[in-house]
Amino acid sequence: MILEELYLADFKNYNKCSFSFSPKLNFIYGENGNGKTNILEAVSMLCYTKSFLLNAEADCVKYGENAFEITGKFRNSVHGSNTVKFIYHNNETQKQIICDNDKVTRSNEFLGRFPLVVLSPYDLKLTMGQQQERRRNFDLLISQVSRVYLNDLRKYSKIIKQKNALLKENLIQKRYSYNELKDLLTVWNSELLELAVKIMLRRLDFIEEFKTYLAASFAGIVGDKYLPVINYESEALTSDTDEVKDVDHIKEKLNILLETKLDAEIKRGISLAGPHRDNYIFLMNKSGEMFEMRTFASQGEHKTFVVALKLSEFSYISEYLKHSNTGAPVLLLDDVFSELDKNRINKISGLITGFNQVFITTTEKEHLNSLKDNFSDTRIFHIVNGSSQSVN
Ligand SMILES: Nc1ncnc2c1ncn2[C@@H]1O[C@H](COP(=O)(O)OP(=O)(O)OP(=O)(O)O)[C@@H](O)[C@H]1O
Ligand SMILES: [Mg+2]
Repeated sequence: MILEELYLADFKNYNKCSFSFSPKLNFIYGENGNGKTNILEAVSMLCYTKSFLLNAEADCVKYGENAFEITGKFRNSVHGSNTVKFIYHNNETQKQIICDNDKVTRSNEFLGRFPLVVLSPYDLKLTMGQQQERRRNFDLLISQVSRVYLNDLRKYSKIIKQKNALLKENLIQKRYSYNELKDLLTVWNSELLELAVKIMLRRLDFIEEFKTYLAASFAGIVGDKYLPVINYESEALTSDTDEVKDVDHIKEKLNILLETKLDAEIKRGISLAGPHRDNYIFLMNKSGEMFEMRTFASQGEHKTFVVALKLSEFSYISEYLKHSNTGAPVLLLDDVFSELDKNRINKISGLITGFNQVFITTTEKEHLNSLKDNFSDTRIFHIVNGSSQSVN
């Protein structure tokens, strides 16, 4: 799939602006604060139904205006062309997403139709930040290739929300006796158990599949001196991986954990066990020794890990969707080259050559030199204060 055209109206610092993109490389440059990232953000809203930066729609309306509109024209070999519109009015609480004249009412049926991988400076919080960032990242990734996973996740989150509401309500109002509350919680726990195990198993499978992609893109940037490792950590699982993959075993372990945590959950008013509390740990194997990224990596190592991670996400989705109607995802690289040495920049430029359609933003026009010869078609956009000057 590729994005052929984009139209922005009163979106952030854009008044009215149209872009016609290259099917290969789109090189977007300009000085700080001129609107480069805003273009990528708009694309993410079309593909994910929300901003990859998690900005509220209300903040995306151009100052002084009441509404914004984003329109994108996508093309893939099977469906031909699709038009997606994202419309938001300040005085209507709901955003509207329209795909080829049909209103999108369920975002979980839409996600994955226009697959997208985004790398931005904010992704450093994947290696540096809290566990929920990593969970969110991989949930979005797996969801783009598995509708089943996305649906399980939605159902599971709903149950956790209801269970949390009950726990919180009880903490404030003390409405139930201990036994009454225990019975109610046991009902929620039995509802969530199946889904929780399915989600955990899918994540474990994902880690297995993904590790070869990650190792390959990492080696493509820095050689094989280091090996990146992702581990899945759950209180319900032991570290013995052979044992771990058994459905009944996980179910039993999680069930025991849910029972053991019950009193603590009542006391704290929040649910404490299940995949919504599990963690992905990023590690680096450096000459046989394991380092946790979060605590030990240098600036450049963080950036390299995140770049390798996102490039492997692209390959992973591409492989999954190879025989699907959608085809490979679009890749957005926001300010990918800052903080990296020349050698790594050249390696990354080489790696992305065969990728479907790539968008790169940068403040340094010189980066074009290491890129343009690698792509059969390049379009250059100079962004100045919310307007675009097509350079070629
Ligand atoms: N709702 C809005 N209305 C008008 N302008 C906005 C709105 N939201 C953000 N902006 C402006 O958009 C600009 C930021 O755009 P963007 O983040 O795309 O810049 P950039 O070119 O990526 O810069 P950098 O190189 O620093 O990353 C800021 O100047 C900001 O004031
Ligand atoms: Mg930017």
